[in-house]
Amino acid sequence: MAERLQKILARAGVSSRRTAEEYIRQGRVAVNGRVVCEVGAKADAVMDRITFDNKPIASEEKIYLLLNKPVGYVTTLSDPQGRPKVTDLLVDIPQRVFPVGRLDYDTEGALLLTNDGELGNRIIHPSYEVNKTYEATVPGRLAEEKIRLLKEGILLDGHRTWPAQVKILAEKKNETTVELIIHEGKKRQVRRMLAAIGHPVKTLKRTAYGGLKLGKLPSGSYRRLTMKDLKKIFSGKIPFTFKKIPD
Ligand code: URA
Repeated sequence: MAERLQKILARAGVSSRRTAEEYIRQGRVAVNGRVVCEVGAKADAVMDRITFDNKPIASEEKIYLLLNKPVGYVTTLSDPQGRPKVTDLLVDIPQRVFPVGRLDYDTEGALLLTNDGELGNRIIHPSYEVNKTYEATVPGRLAEEKIRLLKEGILLDGHRTWPAQVKILAEKKNETTVELIIHEGKKRQVRRMLAAIGHPVKTLKRTAYGGLKLGKLPSGSYRRLTMKDLKKIFSGKIPFTFKKIPD
């Protein structure tokens, strides 16, 4: 994500934005080895190598947040329709964070946000098979046959979904609450899977990433994750070298 250089320099603690503009004009700032003197120039704090007086600027402290996303917020960082964004809910977080995966406007629940692109990509990459747990309410009762279909995989866009773990949490006369655990992240996957078996979703909530549960976090609130939390996402052990925050 490209941002103005003076903003990146200020966030890295080099100076105030105003002074950083001065440093840029003076030719003291370089991006990927090339001196940049235009004050409007942009760079990507994660992807680009930015130096001040030939020394790399401090990299931002890594931060990992778990948010209980309310319905009525988009998980994109900008919205052409001007709807509220999940990042509007964050206060006192100086870092630019982005959501790990997405949740629909009308879905609530667990959403991870971080400025660590590497970890974020690994959590959503299919090879790590991080489970996501959803709770959906649907009209009617789910017949055994329909549950079997969800477990075996549903044909979406010509591809069969990976088998889901399915558990009925509550049954009323006209409504069922069902838990689905999947590790894929196709667009509107849970809604489309349930619609495909004739039970269109009424409400949908993500309750966990791997073993990291949303718990009692109030809607619209968030908390910083610890190393212990991050391990839970990968069912107890992070399967690659990782040491960006203290235990
Ligand atoms: N599946 C959906 O259908 N919607 C979400 O927001 C997440 C998973």
